Amino acid sequence: MVTASAPGKIILFGEHAVVYGRPALAVPVNRVSAETTVTESPRPGVWIHAPQVSLEAELTSLPPGHPIGAAIQIVFHRLGLASPPDLDIHITSTIPIASGLGSGAAVTISLIRALSAFLGRSLPSDEVNACAYEVEKLYHGTPSGIDNTVITYGRPVYFVKGTSPEPLHVGRSFILVIGDTGIAAPTRQSVADVRALWQTDPRRWEKVFDQIGSIAQSARQAIERGNIEALGPLMNANHALLQELTVSSPELDQLVQAARQAGAAGAKLSGGGRGGNMIALVAPNDAERVAQALLLAGARGVIVTEVEQT
Ligand code: PMV
Repeated sequence: MVTASAPGKIILFGEHAVVYGRPALAVPVNRVSAETTVTESPRPGVWIHAPQVSLEAELTSLPPGHPIGAAIQIVFHRLGLASPPDLDIHITSTIPIASGLGSGAAVTISLIRALSAFLGRSLPSDEVNACAYEVEKLYHGTPSGIDNTVITYGRPVYFVKGTSPEPLHVGRSFILVIGDTGIAAPTRQSVADVRALWQTDPRRWEKVFDQIGSIAQSARQAIERGNIEALGPLMNANHALLQELTVSSPELDQLVQAARQAGAAGAKLSGGGRGGNMIALVAPNDAERVAQALLLAGARGVIVTEVEQT
């Protein structure tokens, strides 16, 4: 029996613009995770048990392009396995689905790691990341690859699409409160909507992407130098640009506003938007108050997480 787990993640800066080649910053969230256990099955076939998504099926019965089925096939293919053994694959997760916390990528990565290890050929991280990116395309259409990258390596990253991810050095630890709108919002849709918007006036929207990119650059410098005070205003400016891109929502704006009013140094939506999660930067003594304010303003759940010094 082999078990592997993978953390959740949040994007700190640069979502959406990252799809258009601008930099973004993301960090793992270890308070939530996906876990896969692989065992030999007494029944013939490869059986998948993922109760949270009501999936109980044999691999060959899954439709083509099913992300979990695809992840398994990609591993078999990578390992050159023509006839796999009989397996039971159990998948569980504490990461909210379709909410910007990387649930799909975390499931994929825990699955790739557990399955390849069970088959006696643990894949190195670079290969895990490459396989997971293939699966991300099935979830998201045209993903930048940031989710699979930060979750595979399990540490903060500075990410530019198509280049090797760089570790993001954190000069001083800081605390984030993550607030969940409770609204499931598929990233595929918001990414497609931004593309449609961009096509209406590429020059205008490229400028917005440039502004988001330069915020992400400034944030990288501030995080590396431990200048955490600079991050709040950068988060607020990034949120305003995401509003302009039409990917915020009344619920996200309400949580962002509530966090600021309760004393957060800055707040923004995180991930694809339209629903899902927002993040607020808080001083240690303000975490509890901001968390309560978010719940009062309608958050379905809050997570307080520390981005540790590296
Ligand atoms: O919704 P999430 O957290 O999976 O993030 C998506 C981030 C986008 O920049 C909107 C899309 C992408 O592929 O990078």
